[in-house]
Amino acid sequence: MTKRIRKAVFPVAGLGTRFLPATKSIPKEMLTIVDRPVLQHVVEEAREAGIEHFVFVTGRNKAVIEDHFDMAYELEDTLQKRGKTKEYEALMAQLPAAGATSFTRQQAPLGLGHAVWCARDIVGDEPFAVLLPDMVTMAREAKSGRCLAQCVAAYEKHGGNIIAVEEVKPEETHQYGIVSVGKDHGATFEITGMVEKPPKGTAPSNLMISGRYILEPEIFPILEKGEKGAGGEIQLTDGMKGLAKSQSFHGVRFDGRTYDCGMKLGFLAANVAFALANGDIAEPFKAELKKIMGA
Ligand code: G1P
Repeated sequence: MTKRIRKAVFPVAGLGTRFLPATKSIPKEMLTIVDRPVLQHVVEEAREAGIEHFVFVTGRNKAVIEDHFDMAYELEDTLQKRGKTKEYEALMAQLPAAGATSFTRQQAPLGLGHAVWCARDIVGDEPFAVLLPDMVTMAREAKSGRCLAQCVAAYEKHGGNIIAVEEVKPEETHQYGIVSVGKDHGATFEITGMVEKPPKGTAPSNLMISGRYILEPEIFPILEKGEKGAGGEIQLTDGMKGLAKSQSFHGVRFDGRTYDCGMKLGFLAANVAFALANGDIAEPFKAELKKIMGA
């Protein structure tokens, strides 16, 4: 029997240099997709997948993230007094339960592997999820679930460690972690190798690591060694490669769409996709789009 995946780690210490000047005083995770911060979309995905405790690995200038996932007394009181029940209830519905969030800081930008390692004491000795907040996922249809829910289902089937993947164009593989495919079950497959940011033309497949993971706690002592990889950073992919020597890794081909909101194009595409999926504005937004496109 597999254990329940209760905790999720969100590495949110990144600087967001691709979005300057927008991210000069606002964390990139707080940029909005339609009506909520990028990070809230990702937290909602985690909650849908059964996550109960949300661990944020933050850094300097990220305090507003902590405020976002807390109560805002003055605002809530004012909304109630003014009879803005819908807005008040929407805020309450997204509020994590008391004690269900933890915040720790990555003191220096040493890499994703280091950021995840910073959460070791809060996670403890149990399998856990990691969600990269740059990557925002959308279910193909509501019942198929978002990416982490599909990873949890794969974990319940295979146990061990799970990595979500998605196809990318061959000319984009050098920007991501890439996996090698072993025994293939269709939606899931055995991972036989992985490499972080392979030089152009050397990737073992076109399946990129798309930012959703379920990892066993034995990853922590491996990350603790602090070995540097691609870009001189402590890479999570290298830590997983180390763990794959003694534990199984399965890939999940996510049935849905992932938007890389760490890049302008992905961020803008996510805004369009989520707006078109939003009942309140989809139709008028479509009309605006047509006008802009001159169609
Ligand atoms: C990180 C991971 C990489 C993964 C990517 C997804 O890279 O190291 O394996 O494919 O996220 O966005 P980064 O985007 O931090 O360079």
